[in-house]
Amino acid sequence: MSDQLSTLLSEERRFPPSPAFASEAVATQALYDQAAADPLAFWEAEAKRLDWSTPWDSVLEWELPHAKWFSGGQLNVSANCVDRHLAGARRNQAALIWEGEPGDTRTLTYWQLYQEVTRAANALLALGVKRGDRVAIYLPMIPEAAIAMLACTRIGAVHSVVFGGFSAESLRDRINDAQAVCCITADGGYRRGQILSLKRLADEALAGCPSIHSCLVVHRGQGIDPTACPMKEGRDHWWHRSLEAQAPDCEPAAMEAEELLFILYTSGTTGKPKGIVHTTGGYLTQAAATTRHVFDLKDGDVFWCTADIGWVTGHSYVVYGPLANGATVFMYEGAPDWPARDRFWSLCAKHGVTIFYTAPTAIRAFMKWGIEHPAKHDLSRLRLLGSVGEPINPEAWIWYHLHIGRERCPIVDTWWQTETGGIMITPLPGVVTTKPGSATIPFPGMDIELVDTTGTPVARGGGFLTIKSPWPGMLRTIYGDDARYYETYWSRFPGRYFAGDGAKIDADGYWWILGRVDDVLNVAGHRIGTMEVESALVDHPAVAEAAVVGKAHDLKGQAIAAFVTLKEGFTPSPSMRDELREHVAVKIGAIAKPDDILFAADLPKTRSGKIMRRLLRDVAEGRALGDTTTLADPGVVAKLKAEYESLE
Ligand code: WT7
Repeated sequence: MSDQLSTLLSEERRFPPSPAFASEAVATQALYDQAAADPLAFWEAEAKRLDWSTPWDSVLEWELPHAKWFSGGQLNVSANCVDRHLAGARRNQAALIWEGEPGDTRTLTYWQLYQEVTRAANALLALGVKRGDRVAIYLPMIPEAAIAMLACTRIGAVHSVVFGGFSAESLRDRINDAQAVCCITADGGYRRGQILSLKRLADEALAGCPSIHSCLVVHRGQGIDPTACPMKEGRDHWWHRSLEAQAPDCEPAAMEAEELLFILYTSGTTGKPKGIVHTTGGYLTQAAATTRHVFDLKDGDVFWCTADIGWVTGHSYVVYGPLANGATVFMYEGAPDWPARDRFWSLCAKHGVTIFYTAPTAIRAFMKWGIEHPAKHDLSRLRLLGSVGEPINPEAWIWYHLHIGRERCPIVDTWWQTETGGIMITPLPGVVTTKPGSATIPFPGMDIELVDTTGTPVARGGGFLTIKSPWPGMLRTIYGDDARYYETYWSRFPGRYFAGDGAKIDADGYWWILGRVDDVLNVAGHRIGTMEVESALVDHPAVAEAAVVGKAHDLKGQAIAAFVTLKEGFTPSPSMRDELREHVAVKIGAIAKPDDILFAADLPKTRSGKIMRRLLRDVAEGRALGDTTTLADPGVVAKLKAEYESLE
């Protein structure tokens, strides 16, 4: 941390937009001025860029914590993302260019995407999926992922995409929480040359999901044998067969602006992930507006956001934002280092990517792999770079600028969350001078304020990031738990949404996001709750107690450190450690495996029995121990520290 801090302080270069970029930029200073003068009129103008079958009566109805945007208005998301681009030349423009990890490619024009989406929508209807029903999507990064999402929106079904890296148990819990009726999965997907059989995991999950009546299975192709995929009579249907049987047209459902669009589960401070609810009109307005203005979207752009559709970034910036704008989206199935460490750059060159949006953890891996990998490729078509998911350290920012952007491309560092639906703090690339490591200033129309522990606004300095007024893409509730929605987001600072992040505002009014101040970890850009990992650990028969903390990690941002007390009769051993890590992978997914597990006879507790995570963080990060005077037994933590040090 202190290393990072010193680089932060020493990196004082400023990067104003080049006059050439600024003169042609989609977003100008006028956008800030308009939004400042009348935020609702600003959002209304953005909403009007979408196609509505019925106009709204009111822009915003707000009764904390419940917002209604564009009430009375009706629209359909798939019609906005597909149908409306069929009128002119865009009909034959690529909507989606896709490359599989083994190198197989597919391109879908807007017209072809229309046919796929409508067939898939009809296939869902034929299976009995109705408006308002929940559909779980558990797919690799293949075109069908976007098609399935859009097909749901066409008939007004609510999708819940579950990241393909999550375990069968995680899928089961999410399906049951949402009471999904249908699951869409695939017989396989490629990752680092291996085939991951999602359908097998789905089968395991579905055995415990009584609400599911049907399952559509995409045949991934490319050497995956469909006869090896077990199909359950009556429940399972091949996607391609189901689509073949359908006509390529399907009336889009006219959805109320506030009808559910999707649920996306994310980690919080309890053991149970929460279903973040997003609705139709406001979400699409923000996704479309931010894509256009932040990424300076123009005709001819090829937009690559490297996120998986299992995360909100994939929802807003792989699928909905770009397609609502009629852009060409590039999508890639696999790993960045397969078959070699230049794969991303070879893809950029091959497909003519112009806008590239990724996470700092990926950038740090590229740095470690060396500049020779991007240097081999023609990246001259790139014109804008983006960063998202965690604070970007200035070294990584500068590396990205030099070796990927080749000193030509503005970098937009975008702060937002699953809950916000779209980008909230970011530079507009033609207007704002950037500083490496700062997400700069709020997007036009966003009312974001830093406050101290008492909720008093902080104009300059450090504090908690809060949002004062509703915004179109905000979450509407937690699925099935409105009380938790209020409690989690609106109770800590009365009258404000609390994001869970700490931040700092510098002398120029620029925002520097410092990271989570709650028990949520950010591991390689993945959001993981410490309590979820603890629950997974104590689920193992050998574990009596577990405490999980994050520790700084060069590549991943944070790594997971677990302190585990075993039950009587079990002995610590390297094989026990492996077993526990594997257990977490089975319960949650490989992304949640602890990096370090320390077996501890005792955990540091206060006299009232509360585990002192702060001290465990000190131990895991090798710092001098903080105040231990409130501990029931101060000796415990010194012993842990010595043991931890001998771990490494
Ligand atoms: C958390 C949200 C929506 C983006 C993908 C992650 C952190 C996100 C930044 C950024 C610093 C960032 C925050 C936030 N975060 N973007 N540009 N700079 N931190 O979505 O899984 O909901 O995680 O990611 O801590 O609260 P998510």
